[in-house]
Amino acid sequence: MLNKEIFEFPIVYTNPIPRIALGWGAHQTIGDECKAAGMKKALIVTSGLKGTGIVEEIKGIIEHAGVATEIFAKTTSNPKDHEIMEAYKVFKEAKCDGVVAIGGGSSIDTAKCVRVIDANGGQHVNNFTVFLDPPFAETLKKMKPCTVPQISVATTSGTGAEVSSWAAISNTKDRAKVLVSGPNVQSTLAVVDPLLARTQPRDVAAWTGFDAMAHGIEAFVTKVQGPYAYGMLLRAVELIHNNLRDFVYNRMDKDACERMCWASTMGGIAIGFGAGAGIVHGLGHQVSALTDCHHGRINAVLMLAGELYNQPAAVDKFAALTKAMGVDTTGMTKFEAADRWFDEIEQLLDDLEIEPGNLSKQFGLEEKDIDHIVKVYSNDFCSQGNPKEFNKEEVTELMKHVLHEPY
Ligand SMILES: [Fe+2]
Repeated sequence: MLNKEIFEFPIVYTNPIPRIALGWGAHQTIGDECKAAGMKKALIVTSGLKGTGIVEEIKGIIEHAGVATEIFAKTTSNPKDHEIMEAYKVFKEAKCDGVVAIGGGSSIDTAKCVRVIDANGGQHVNNFTVFLDPPFAETLKKMKPCTVPQISVATTSGTGAEVSSWAAISNTKDRAKVLVSGPNVQSTLAVVDPLLARTQPRDVAAWTGFDAMAHGIEAFVTKVQGPYAYGMLLRAVELIHNNLRDFVYNRMDKDACERMCWASTMGGIAIGFGAGAGIVHGLGHQVSALTDCHHGRINAVLMLAGELYNQPAAVDKFAALTKAMGVDTTGMTKFEAADRWFDEIEQLLDDLEIEPGNLSKQFGLEEKDIDHIVKVYSNDFCSQGNPKEFNKEEVTELMKHVLHEPY
């Protein structure tokens, strides 16, 4: 047996990634792609994206290709287990044979869950959540692979859900945000069209863009070996740092918009290439489960506190991230370069008008919630690869601190 102390993460596992169609006007191809995937009737899964006309247009494109549609437009942020079961009911009753998710991570992940449920006899979605304990590999072994095709149309530029093999959902009974996975759960095709991304409201563009930044950073500083992902992550961080401000304040800036689309997709792929996320996502998920706050926003809010906690365990990597952000680190020690990363992120948050920390004031989180948050986090994958090993007292202290402090 391998010595866990010496080889904590000896093997890199990569998740499959879907075909990706990225470019201006890519959404025009969705009808043909549905047909090519063998769909006769597609369930469109979305929050509705009211006022953008996107859902109506894509529905028309699919039907023009001779594929019938049904719509489930009740997806909400941090998709809830009961909403997912309702989406599955619509899928089944309408006799659909494919899904087209249109939206951000919530719609795309709801659609993935519909396929997992369908492949596994209509069981409740909470039967397919994966944890450290029981070992997720055992859960996956019991699951049948998804067979229904999924086209995921990203309308935000941040989550990377369109290219990932995971779904993040809310277990409302346990008040926890949990991960669902399964064999072949990844999308059949990811459509990333900057024309759609530029319809995001300003705050959503900032929050989801920061989610992409969180993927770039967390997957880079992780303890899990990630050589495949490193180049992609540094490039993603560089693109986001250089373009997120321009995109947030002018979504018609076509270069900034396209670069954010590339960067968000890179982050999603890199996480799936064995790198994974860390404490920011892990704690952020559970704050979202209790307060329903936006996923990207909470990652931005927790970024400084989470990484300040991690910094001593990943000084070289934070120094490399500072360099990727365009800072000339010549003449700096690695410690100075690593410290500079925090200045850059603080400035970016300030420029995007995102307030760090202060979870009590911003989201109404209370001290009595912290035990629950830390407990769920301890069994989440995000705690496994985090640079600093999980320590209940330290993480509790961190959460108590950011209740009333910025970081
Ligand atoms: Fe994320």
